Amino acid sequence: MHNAGMDGASMVGAKVSLRIDGREVCVAAGTSVAAAIAMSGSPVTRRSVGGMPRAPLCGMGVCHECRVCIDDLPHQLACQTPCAAGMRVVTAQSQEAR
Ligand code: FES
Repeated sequence: MHNAGMDGASMVGAKVSLRIDGREVCVAAGTSVAAAIAMSGSPVTRRSVGGMPRAPLCGMGVCHECRVCIDDLPHQLACQTPCAAGMRVVTAQSQEAR
């Protein structure tokens, strides 16, 4: 029997494509934005007020070190956000390159 829905069984092997700092990244469905950022080369998400690089620390929505801009919304928690097709993520790395 074919199941076209996205239940647990049908998500196995499914991929989603998103853009991180302008680069296209393809990850497994269910991957957090924080994990996708780390897999794309650098875990840096933002800069502290003093300019130090920051990266996800707790992975459970407490520390807020993983804040990034997602689809033009600033200060989104990358560790609590699953990747979605077409999502646009901007980290401190991108903002420094401008
Ligand atoms: S890593 Fe701590 S809130 Fe996201």
